[in-house]
Amino acid sequence: MSPQRRALVLFFHPTHKASHAGKALAAAVAGMNQVTVRDMYAIYPDYLVDVKREQALLEEHDLIVFQHPVYWYSCPPLLKLWIDEVLEHGWAYGSGGTKLHGKTLLSAVTAGGPAEAYSPTGSNRHTINTFFSPFDQTAHLCGMKYAAPMVIHGARGLGDAEIAEACGTYQQLLSNYISTGELP
Ligand SMILES: Cc1cc2nc3c(=O)[nH]c(=O)nc-3n(C[C@H](O)[C@H](O)[C@H](O)COP(=O)(O)O)c2cc1C
Repeated sequence: MSPQRRALVLFFHPTHKASHAGKALAAAVAGMNQVTVRDMYAIYPDYLVDVKREQALLEEHDLIVFQHPVYWYSCPPLLKLWIDEVLEHGWAYGSGGTKLHGKTLLSAVTAGGPAEAYSPTGSNRHTINTFFSPFDQTAHLCGMKYAAPMVIHGARGLGDAEIAEACGTYQQLLSNYISTGELP
């Protein structure tokens, strides 16, 4: 039997209780085999990130998912802090910093804006890929592959059927990765 890979979903939502789409997405993958989901704002309400624990978890998994709402064309502040503190020089990058080599990073995000807003002719003037180039380069610096982001647009106005469809897409993405090691 071919080896199964493991996925670590780091869910960063500052107002988890008010979340509609993001909470449903995280719940949809929480029960999957080989998937670990962590509700980061619940774990670190005081922003005191346990760097060694986070690094140990990263080492145990192959796919790392940053799941969050798009906030100001980027991520909520705890994810930025997590990146600053956990991806240490000599561990994640730089001399001897090889612990993440060969892993894959996926951004799985909900956005208030519709898909057409995220284009050169749309109101946000740039694509999500352009806004997320810092995550792409962070992955590259750490020897990781950056997968095409999964973006759920117009997230605040989605009905139950659309959320269920997004949850199915998310589950399929993770399950494909776990069995094949590939993402689009
Ligand atoms: C502080 C803040 C900043 C936001 N910035 C953006 C943004 O830059 N682009 C966007 O499309 N939506 C933005 N939104 C909307 C959220 O992304 C959206 O409400 C969320 O993804 C919906 O998912 P949820 O139901 O899980 O909260 C922002 C929301 C807040 C509260």
